[in-house]
Amino acid sequence: MAVRDAPTTSALVVDRIEVVLGGRPIISNVSFLLGRGEFAGVIGANGAGKTTLLRTILGLERASQGTVQIHDATGSAGRPRVGYVPQKVLLDPSLPLRARDLVALGLDGHRLGLPLPSPARDRLVAEMLEAVDAQDFADERVGTLSGGQQQRILIAHALIRRPVLLVMDEPLASLDVHSAASVAALLAHLAKTQDVAILLSAHDMNPLVGVMDRIVYLANGHAAEGSVEEVLRGDVLSELYGHHVDVIRVHDRIVVVVAPGDPSATDHATLLSGGRETD
Ligand SMILES: Nc1ncnc2c1ncn2[C@@H]1O[C@H](COP(=O)(O)OP(=O)(O)O)[C@@H](O)[C@H]1O
Ligand SMILES: [Mg+2]
Repeated sequence: MAVRDAPTTSALVVDRIEVVLGGRPIISNVSFLLGRGEFAGVIGANGAGKTTLLRTILGLERASQGTVQIHDATGSAGRPRVGYVPQKVLLDPSLPLRARDLVALGLDGHRLGLPLPSPARDRLVAEMLEAVDAQDFADERVGTLSGGQQQRILIAHALIRRPVLLVMDEPLASLDVHSAASVAALLAHLAKTQDVAILLSAHDMNPLVGVMDRIVYLANGHAAEGSVEEVLRGDVLSELYGHHVDVIRVHDRIVVVVAPGDPSATDHATLLSGGRETD
């Protein structure tokens, strides 16, 4: 088996999956494990297959080969809860819904109709608002909040039912540099404190390098996976891309440089420049 051992302690086991869309393989032979309490990034350029991988994990696309397993705390099968925040969530500013109401709706899953208020519900909502540091804007209309504030509310909405796995597609994409770093740090913290496996995708790893436990790096339809130290290396990425790539560490930043003369060098250098915001 291509992934590390001990699948029963893993929330997510992706084993040698291939996904074919429109008659061609989008990703092949992708394998990795994610444990509860771990925070991982699926990193790759636009079109690398990040959304396809996440949708396959969620069961929205079918793997033509390989398997995806999601385990609850006992390691048993069944239907463990998975939270999902899709790529673009547009919240209308005129929507008469407070941030705390949206978090509360996370408790009701697919059920229709307005939930009945109760002290137990209010307590759970207050706990989640505190966990994502959103008390200060909990009574604002959710559509009027900043991008970073909305992401905190969407995270609380997804986590309130205590999923074993939270999947988020490009949650940092529309945020400014400071908000992206702060949401990334929050997610890393929540993975530990809420004992949930968190998997997010990003085309810019910049805010994530310092806080990810694991990285699943997609290029050429394949993945390199491991810790940041294991994956962000010249030899590993050169093999993945199929041509020479240098990984240069400057202070707190990581810059990936493609050999001069490669027509895609500029794109890659921009995409792959990464690091952590210093406070
Ligand atoms: N339903 C589909 N049918 C055919 N091709 C698709 C479909 N969805 C995505 N693709 C292709 O799969 C590749 C990966 O897309 P995607 O997973 O959205 O990448 P990313 O999220 O990394 O930008 C792209 O080339 C895209 O055009
Ligand atoms: Mg995508």
